[in-house]
Parts: sequence; structure tokens; C-alpha cells
Amino acid sequence: MRDAAYPELKTTHTIARAGRPFTDYKPPPAAPVWDVIEGYGRFHVLVSALELGVFDALERLGPSTGDRLADELGVSATHLTTLLEGVVAIHLLDQRFGLFELNDTARRYLTTDGAASMAALVPVSPGPLANWQQLTGTVRTGRPADPVDDDPVGFYVPLVEGTFTTISRMAARADGFIRYSALDAPRILDLGAGGAPWTTAVLTANATATAVVNDLPGVIGVAERRLDDRDLADRVEFRPGSFHEIDLEADHYDLIVLGHICRAEGADRAGALIDRAFRALKPGGRVVLSDYFADRQRSLAGHALMMGVTMMASTVHGEALSYGDVADRLRVAGFEAVRLIEPIGFQEAFVASKPPRQNESRTP
Ligand SMILES: C[S@@+](CC[C@H](N)C(=O)[O-])C[C@H]1O[C@@H](n2cnc3c(N)ncnc32)[C@H](O)[C@@H]1O
Repeated sequence: MRDAAYPELKTTHTIARAGRPFTDYKPPPAAPVWDVIEGYGRFHVLVSALELGVFDALERLGPSTGDRLADELGVSATHLTTLLEGVVAIHLLDQRFGLFELNDTARRYLTTDGAASMAALVPVSPGPLANWQQLTGTVRTGRPADPVDDDPVGFYVPLVEGTFTTISRMAARADGFIRYSALDAPRILDLGAGGAPWTTAVLTANATATAVVNDLPGVIGVAERRLDDRDLADRVEFRPGSFHEIDLEADHYDLIVLGHICRAEGADRAGALIDRAFRALKPGGRVVLSDYFADRQRSLAGHALMMGVTMMASTVHGEALSYGDVADRLRVAGFEAVRLIEPIGFQEAFVASKPPRQNESRTP
């Protein structure tokens, strides 16, 4: 009889040819690794489909063959059909019997005029793509070679154009939690306002509200144009400059918005902004701080953790802040009644109050 590889086992208890013992252990599948490899392609499939105008064309034409769509877009039919199959594979189009058509996700998020369009956001959301190719170097040196801090206008103008629809929906729905529409002649401060979706929502809902809108020179023009388009600019003072440095009145504002600005700043600089907001608020005034927050043990909130990597790849100071970090820091600054709201899916904000003066009663 042949020797068993494991002498304590009979050959009948081993995989016959290799002589290894049977085991119940199954190796994990390679699917998560393939998922990442394909991730690169998935992003580019979506960006190309957007750049070619695939979703808007399908909205116009209805269900169409690849040939019909290629005709409409003036591109290679075989190549477009392959691209469309890629979009089907990532569940952002449907295909039945050779006809491609929008599904509900594509209609809502990927057409230019979709109710919650992210079409302009998709290409810019990961930050400059070249920075991802230099991620290893960034980790080695502790700094991106080409941070967006060096060209804020080039990066933030398209970004805030792209996020405007989403954050406008969030800001409008936030009235259900904050009731800014019911305040009497409130004064708003919108720091790093981008296209000013928060100011737009408040001024639209409350005809007595006025605002100070801040952003960097070169970016603030987006807010000026958008507020002007809505006939709201005459109730706004535009205050260009860094939100760390511009003059702010003390005890002056009813509502201060720090909308998606803290994660690019990192914990210490975000803390300084929270302190600035506290000083500038009237007693009883409220701060709104929106962002993508990591969970306290920093392992569950995948979207926020990946945002942290995105910040690391492209900014000098950025990092994902956790719910606990922010809530604790708000309390350290002196805020009370700290709470978290989620006006629309995936968009959360802390709301916290500066304590009223001793002899003032609180809002019930
Ligand atoms: C992610 S966008 C957020 C825009 C808007 N607040 C919102 O909630 O959609 C970040 C904004 O902060 C602005 N920003 C970045 N650094 C700034 C600084 N030091 N001072 C003023 N604004 C700044 C950018 O120009 C950009 O408009």
C-alpha cells in the first residue's frame, strides 16, 4: 500500500491524488477583488454614456436599438452597443430583445433634467482622476502631488454645479426639520456656499430672510448667477474670501450653514469653523453642518470612509469626520440640542443650537 501523505489518516480520508486531508473549509470567492477591478471600468462606462448623451437620447427616443441610438448620436454602432451592454451590466439601463431603455434610476438620476439629476456630478465627484493614479505616492509622502487646494476654482466650479440639484432637494426638505420658513426676518450665513443651494432654499421659503453668502473668489460667481436667476440676489450680500479669514459679525445670525465643507478641512480646521459659527450666531441661533459621516468605529459607513480616501487623494487636510467627532466638537464649542437629520436619502446634517441668553426662554 502507498504511504499516505498524512500518516495518521487513512488514504481513503484524503483527496486521493494530492494526499491532502478533506476539509470543510471553503476559500472565500474572488468576487470582491473582481468587483474592484471592474469598478474602474464601471465608472468610465457611466462617464462615457453621459458624455455621449445616451440617457438624454433615450429619454427623447424611448426604447431604441443600438443602431438607432448610434444614428442619433453619430457614433460607431458596434462600439456604442458594447458600451450600452456595459451600462446594462451596471443596472443603469434595461435591455430587452435588443431594445435599450431607461430604467427608473437612470430617468431620475442620469438624465440632464431628471428630478434628482446627478449627471453633471458623476464625472467630477471622485476629484481629479490623475490624483487616483498617484495615490501610492500620496500615502508615501503624506500629501497629494496636485491637491485641489492649489486650483480651487478649477475643481469647485464644476463640482458645485454638479451638486446643486441634490443639495437643493436636501435644503428644501430640511425645512420640515428646521422650520426656517417660519422664522421672522432671519439672517443666514452660508459659508463655502458653492452655488448656494441652502441660501436659495431658505430665501425661497421665507420672503423676510436675508443672507450673507461666502465662497472663494472665482467660485462665488456660481452663487451670484444662480441667485440672480431666481431673483433672490437683492436679499444677499456676497462676501468672497476664505471662510477661515473673512470678517464675521458676532452674535448676528439666526442660521449658519456649513454645507459639505468640513471633510475637506480635516478635524482641526473644521473645529475652528464650528467655533467661528458659534461666535457669529445669535443666542438661540442654529448651525447646520452637513457631510458624509463615518461611524464611530470607522468600519461600517463605507460611503463616508471612501469619501475619506477621496479627500486624502486630492486635498491637503481632508478626512472623513465621524458622527461622534462632529457631535463632540459641536458640544465643545458650546452648542446644545445637537441632533442629526436626514432630509433626503444619503444626505445628513447635524443641527445644533447656541444656548439662548439666560433670561430668554427657549423655543418650545
Ligand atoms: C463641496 S462644496 C459645498 C457647497 C455647498 N455648501 C453645498 O452644501 O452644496 C465646498 C465649497 O466650499 C468652498 N470652499 C473651499 N474652501 C474654501 C475656503 N477656504 N473659503 C471659502 N469657501 C471655500 C468651495 O469653493 C466649494 O464651493
